Amino acid sequence: MKFLPIVLTVLASLIPSCMALCDISWNIPDVPSEGLTDITFPINIANAPHTAGYYFAQQFGFVGLADVGYIGLQPRPDSDSGSTMHGVFSSFVSGATSTDDNCSNGADGGDGVSCAVDFLASYSDTWNLVVTSDGNTWSGAAVDSSSGVQQNIGTYTLPAGAGGIQSSQVGFVEYYPWNGNSTFTCADLPSTKGTFYPPTTQSSSNGAVTGDISGSVDNCQSYITQQSISGGVDFSIS
Ligand SMILES: *[C@@H]1O[C@H](CO)[C@@H](O)[C@H](O)[C@H]1NC(C)=O
Ligand SMILES: *[C@@H]1O[C@H](CO)[C@@H](O)[C@H](O)[C@H]1NC(C)=O
Repeated sequence: MKFLPIVLTVLASLIPSCMALCDISWNIPDVPSEGLTDITFPINIANAPHTAGYYFAQQFGFVGLADVGYIGLQPRPDSDSGSTMHGVFSSFVSGATSTDDNCSNGADGGDGVSCAVDFLASYSDTWNLVVTSDGNTWSGAAVDSSSGVQQNIGTYTLPAGAGGIQSSQVGFVEYYPWNGNSTFTCADLPSTKGTFYPPTTQSSSNGAVTGDISGSVDNCQSYITQQSISGGVDFSIS
């Protein structure tokens, strides 16, 4: 999954090669021209079954670059040690590099870097997906908003000239077994649920601010219910 808001309509016609079920548009006010140095996307998947298949993600663009990055959570089956999530932090930027053990070259079959970790995680808690920069080097982490426990997902470096994070982008919920599958049937969607909350940053021109989000259902509309919950956007599938 990757797209910019402007090309959303065009790419929607390419679905289901990239099967977005739901979109989550976000924006942040008062972004300086050089972009943000941090952004946090809260996501709650308390009521998602502990099985693989769904990806709850937010995307972000960089000043001076056309390609985006994304960060998000995927449920996983429980391990012997407890409930487990898969955290993903990726960039589609050509020329991005990483020396992190949990990152590898390439993203969704194209240029970029993909980082991922499986980690023990409480599903009941909202997780903050936190993206921070040190110059051109960007790190992604999942932070339990209740306990403060932090799980690093990965770190990559963008090519020289890349700026900070831009003021808006669009995240998604996808059922990734359907990527590239043109014969899916909406009735086959397993049940799940996830809530996205508005992003926050510490690095707007007014310091700490909270942005806005809005959701839409793009596919399998009759199987997906969207509602507003505590300032967030909640999707219930099947
Ligand atoms: C890579 O992931 C493992 C968990 O799979 C974690 O223990 C380790 O700290 C991670 N590495 C870095 C550099 O964050
Ligand atoms: C495509 O998805 C359907 C379920 O909707 C499944 O029955 C079929 O096997 C899938 N095809 C491929 C090639 O994965």
